[in-house]
Amino acid sequence: MKDHFYVTTPIYYVNDVPHIGHTYTTVAADILARHNRMLGKEVFFLTGTDEHGQKVEKAAEDKGISPKEHADKMVRNFRSLWDKLNISNDAFIRTTDEKHKNVVREMMQLLYEKGEIVRRSYEGWYCTPDERFWTEKEIVDGNCPDCGRPVEKIEEENYFFLMSGYQDRLVKYITENETFILPETRRNEVLGFLRTQSLGDLCISRPKKRLSWGIPLPFDENYVTYVWFDALLNYYSATRYLAPEGAEWWPATHHLIGKDILTTHAIYWSTMLMALDMPLPGNIFAHGWWTVEGRKMSKSLGNVVDPFEVVDAFGCDAFRYFMFREVTFGLDGDFSRDALIGRINNDLANDLGNLLSRFLTMAGKYLGGVIEAPGSPDAFAGECSDALSDALNVTNWSRLKFNVILDNIWNIVRRANNHIQKKEPWKLAGSDTEALKLVMFNIWNALRQTALLIYPFMPGTAEKMWGQLGLESLTDEAKQSRGIFEWDWKPGYDIKVSNGEQLFPRINTNKTNKRKQKEARGKEENKAMEEGLIRIDDFAKVELRTAKVISAEKVENSDKLLRLKVEADRQRQIIAGIAKFYAPEDLVGKDIVIVANLKPAKLMGNLSEGMLLAASDDEGLSIVTLENPVKTGSRIK
Ligand code: MSP
Repeated sequence: MKDHFYVTTPIYYVNDVPHIGHTYTTVAADILARHNRMLGKEVFFLTGTDEHGQKVEKAAEDKGISPKEHADKMVRNFRSLWDKLNISNDAFIRTTDEKHKNVVREMMQLLYEKGEIVRRSYEGWYCTPDERFWTEKEIVDGNCPDCGRPVEKIEEENYFFLMSGYQDRLVKYITENETFILPETRRNEVLGFLRTQSLGDLCISRPKKRLSWGIPLPFDENYVTYVWFDALLNYYSATRYLAPEGAEWWPATHHLIGKDILTTHAIYWSTMLMALDMPLPGNIFAHGWWTVEGRKMSKSLGNVVDPFEVVDAFGCDAFRYFMFREVTFGLDGDFSRDALIGRINNDLANDLGNLLSRFLTMAGKYLGGVIEAPGSPDAFAGECSDALSDALNVTNWSRLKFNVILDNIWNIVRRANNHIQKKEPWKLAGSDTEALKLVMFNIWNALRQTALLIYPFMPGTAEKMWGQLGLESLTDEAKQSRGIFEWDWKPGYDIKVSNGEQLFPRINTNKTNKRKQKEARGKEENKAMEEGLIRIDDFAKVELRTAKVISAEKVENSDKLLRLKVEADRQRQIIAGIAKFYAPEDLVGKDIVIVANLKPAKLMGNLSEGMLLAASDDEGLSIVTLENPVKTGSRIK
């Protein structure tokens, strides 16, 4: 039986038009889907749209159409973008699909019968734009802790999923499954959160009188479920009615998401699955966000990158390549026209495009376009095979290290360019035909391998190369996935290559030196970021100060939190999750280190004006104290 590979993107809200953020995740999933099909796996690649909720209801109302009509319209934008970007999704789910709604209702009923969903009277702070409730302790100065907009107090009966009961199990699961959440920094973030804060229960309903555009609860028709409970279940419901039949597709291999929706996936979704006794996905990968020319991308700044425009101006493959070569998948990245043009001119036109066109010109001129396989491979072929294995490295692929993979592929391109420089075929022509044939075969084979390897990233370009190299449809070949990477030549095998359309014409730029310098600086900074380094001024942003603990006591109803009064630059209250490791009385009088410029937050209703430094391992936790106390409140720099 074939191995199965199931990859998902978030389902996108229909009230927005697609931008680079949506494009990024979807192309990433496409790369994985195509690669795994080439490895011979049976693949299910799912994307789709999230169509319920207040925002959609409101937008439709403003336009005087029904929410479904509004959604139908907006869905077209996504579908046509995915066509334009050559996305090979196997299915497109919409949360308004009747079959999806049925699965959601079925799962709700199950959880209700198990006692995992209960009805409670609820008073909370509601953020209308974000469509979610916050607790008293979570809001910051009357505003939503997420978007900063004012929240309103609402009291009503609602249904709750008892998420809080799964905290310990979830911590254990994440701890034991190293690659469940990637990249590692995000995994640590989720673990840090789960180890210091208490999980609440999740409100999953809205009274119908307030919101009708949702899925009616199977056990109470006066309520609907909406947004997250409905949306997350798409990953499972799709396996029930959209995936190829005859196989069990759940759990997914990878959920690809942006960093902003990690909590909902890592915590809500995981605990929902635990309550349903279902296996968790193999991996949740949270990628970073794109800024635009160094600034946050936003409608109000008018700098939202429109993928339709980028593709029209630069081509689908150049855009796809850029997104995954420019930035480590997982980190934030910056989009700029200059950076994109730089990649096109250097990597695509110069390194790759020139290699192919030089090769084809020489093949035509010296060999009448006929490439012949040698009796036995030489050392160069061996080097290329090693480079090919590197580019297929399983760990790099399972950890989504796309930029490393692309760099490995470019090793073959670079090698082939050097080979031409070194062997100088133009000198061999007319003097040593056998040697010439061998060199030309070597280059042909390197280009063939390159086409195969770039196929997941740039399918159109790979296909063009394949044709010019005298081979038949790569797409057909890739779909059949028959040991495509293990191709071996037979002596005497010959093939007719033909010069064709240039892959990537150079783009003319009149860059000023200043711009070039800026780019170089940007590159250096990116590199430093990739290596996990920060600049001294980044460090200086963190205001560390010495502090003396004046008093300490337990926070009511919490077995984790202590309330400390400390003297630093001024008197501050700090809520620290260290109650399991320190008795309050042991802390009084200690000289410790705090982060003094942390945005104040409320923890279980208590204001925390800073954070103390502590180190922890599997066995315990130790707070950072001063060896020889200096003046209380001194800055640490
Ligand atoms: N509907 C939810 C997801 C439900 S999944 C069960 C949702 N939809 S969304 O339309 O808002 O999704 C937007 C996606 O785009 C998120 O993954 C988000 O991280 C991503 N991005 C939005 N802006 C972005 C950037 N500037 N850069 C990169 N990705 C960004 O959330």
